[in-house]
Parts: sequence; structure tokens; C-alpha cells
Amino acid sequence: MAMKLVASVFILAVASFCQALENGLMRTPPMGWLAWERFRCNVDCKNDPQNCISENLFMEMADYLVTNGWKDLGYVYVNIDDCWTAKKRDAKGRLVPDPERFPHGIKALADYVHSKGLKLGIYGDLGIYTCGGYPGTKLNQIELDASTFAEWGVDMLKLDGCYSSAWYQAKGYPRMTRALNATGRHIAYSCSWPAYRGGLPPQVNYTLLSNICNLWRNYVDIQDSWDSVLSIVDWFSNHQDVLQPQAGPGHWNDPDTLIIGNFGLSEEQSRSQMALWTILAAPLLLSTDLRTISQSSKEILQNKLMIKINQDPLGIQGRRILQEKSYIEVFQRPLSCSASALVFFSRRTDMPYHYTTSLAKLNYTQNAIYEVQDVYTGEMISGLKITDKFTVVINPSGVVMWYLYPIMYLDQPFSFLNQFYKSETKKFYPFPL
Ligand code: GLA
Repeated sequence: MAMKLVASVFILAVASFCQALENGLMRTPPMGWLAWERFRCNVDCKNDPQNCISENLFMEMADYLVTNGWKDLGYVYVNIDDCWTAKKRDAKGRLVPDPERFPHGIKALADYVHSKGLKLGIYGDLGIYTCGGYPGTKLNQIELDASTFAEWGVDMLKLDGCYSSAWYQAKGYPRMTRALNATGRHIAYSCSWPAYRGGLPPQVNYTLLSNICNLWRNYVDIQDSWDSVLSIVDWFSNHQDVLQPQAGPGHWNDPDTLIIGNFGLSEEQSRSQMALWTILAAPLLLSTDLRTISQSSKEILQNKLMIKINQDPLGIQGRRILQEKSYIEVFQRPLSCSASALVFFSRRTDMPYHYTTSLAKLNYTQNAIYEVQDVYTGEMISGLKITDKFTVVINPSGVVMWYLYPIMYLDQPFSFLNQFYKSETKKFYPFPL
């Protein structure tokens, strides 16, 4: 009897082990570029050769990622989205890229991207068709498509879920995990499954997802507008009790791409999207035209301290910790080495708002002296105690973002940190950039 029990526990353990994605990737949220929001399903290379979905577009974006400083900051994925294939599979049933728009094939594109030190992402859809009407991946084509992607040298797969049922998705998404494992190539796996099932339990099993996918789209597609950003922020904040615990190294919630650099956001709103995505430990996937992006958008997206916070190794997703008077919200994300990030967000549409609070009011309980750096202005505030009142001035639809860390524990006079503080008299920053 005891032997039987041990045996079945063992079988169960092996079964769940075999289900899990074994790529060890994405210990921090992925960073890179993704075509969809900005370039959509533009396949008209005759009339719009610069902007159509073609190998040229991806090669050009790869060039810009390298030459304009993106790659060095961690933006390394170049991700193809929908509409890259021919309308039909080949005689062997394999997906083929559109021969006119990708004349050299995906393997050549992957080689090009790799030669630049970048990684290539591709798009598939579990179902009859992709959302754009191109060939989907049916259940019995999952292994073939996984091995095709691996042979081409693809590094990431976004598997969408148009034209499939709940039953089909429950079968297909874990089956793709097993198929990717079986290729032996480490391919990051982004699952759109929850977005097709309303994003919440009981329809969505996040424990399973975090075992079998590196990231997952929970909610609707982002559009090029502030309304769209707000609706995503609202949904993620309203459901944070469910969503926040699911994120961690190797498995992330994905509120969709950054639209900074496009047409829909003001500069303040762009700063807000970047700050809020960073608090959410979200993937930083640019969906913009890197050839024409403005200097100010670039500065927002290339902010080093912001990226350091987004990529914090603890990988804890932040939360909205306070809503005040329906127009001020405060978000907080715990970071490694007792540091944290705060975002003060204003939904007002009139004028800059003076918001006065204290760290104690924001649930900081450690009796310490904090050093604060404003993430956008770089300004430092030294010697902040938790009971000290301070005022931040938040622009309409804008944010003030802080990075803060304790430099002295007032109730632990002999702590290691305090010794440093004394010897360096206030000039000491324990975690320099
Ligand atoms: C769905 C996805 C989008 C994009 C399009 C492509 O809507 O959610 O991110 O991939 O399909 O058709």
C-alpha cells in the first residue's frame, strides 16, 4: 500500500515536471521590439514598402536597436507578429513565410538578427486561422510548427488564440510547451490564452500558466490612445489581488506593448505608461517606429534607472497601494536590497497637483533614513524619515516616480549599513547605477 502511494506520488511529480516549460529564460521581464501595435497587418509592400510587414522592416528595426543604444540597455528581442506567412502551408504542411515579403526566409532573418547580438520572436495562433486570417496552428500541427521554429533559430514564440475554443486552448497551450521542450532549443513562450478566457479564475488557471509559459497576455489589445492605456491600468489594478502574485522570474503578466513614440500619447502620458508598466514588472516591448521616434520619447524609453527598476532581479510585481479622491493613485513595487519604487499618478485634467503625504502614510514601517531619487528628473532627496511630510507636484495625466532605499536604520545602531553611512557622511549611495 505504502509502495503504491510512493509510486503514484512519483508519477504525479514526473507528470507535472514534464508539463513545465524547461527553458530557464526571462528571469526578468523581456525587452525588445514587437511589430503589431504600430505596423499591424500592413502587407501592402507595393504602395508602402517602408512600413509593410516584410523582412526589410525587421532587419531595419534590428539595425536601429543596435545603433541607437537600445540593445545595450537590454532591448534585444525583434518580434514578428501576425501576417508574416503565405496564405497556405507548403506541400509538407509546414508554415512558410510570404515569399514576396520574406524572400530570404525566416532562417536568414534569424541569422541576421543573431549576427547583431539580438533575438528573433515569431507569432503563431492556436486555432484554424490567426486573428488576421493567416494559417493557424491546429492541434496536430503543434509539434511540426515548434520544430520548424526551432530549425529556423527562433528565440521566442507568441501563440495567439483566435479561432479556437476553450477546450482547444486547454489542450493546445500545454501541448505547445511540451513541443517546445522537445525541440531542445530554448524558445521563450508567450501565451495569449488568458486573454481569450476573460483573464480571471476560474476560467484561467494561473498556477498552470506560470508553469508552462514565460509570459501571457491577460487582457485586451492596447491601441494607440490614452484611453486604452487607462483601461489596461484600471483592469490590472482592479484585479491585482489575483494577478500580482502570479508574476515572478520566468513568468510574467503582459499588459501588452509600449505605445510611446506613436501618435496617441502626450509626453506626460508617455512617462506615465513607462512608469506604470515598470511598476507592473511588465515586458518592455516597444511597438513604435525606431527610425522616426522623437528624442523625448527615446529618453523616456531609455531611462536607465527606470530599466533597472523594471529589471529588478527579485521580479516582484508592484501594486496600486492607494486611491485618493478618485484622481490620485499611488503605486509601489518592492525591489532588491530593501529598495522600492513609488509612482504618484494623477488622473486630473486641469493643472499640476500638489500632493502631500509621508512614507508612513504609504505603509512604510521600517524606521529608517531614506535616500530618494526622482526617476525622471534625477533629483535626489536625502535624509527622508518615514514620518517626514513631503509634497510631489504631479502634472495632469502624469506621474512622479521615485526610487528609494534606506541608508540608515534608526532602530538598529550597529547594522552594517549604518557603519557605511557614518564613514561616508551622506555621500554614500549603496546601489549606484
Ligand atoms: C490579437 C492579439 C494582438 C495581435 C493580433 C494580430 O488581437 O491580441 O496582440 O497579435 O491578434 O492579429
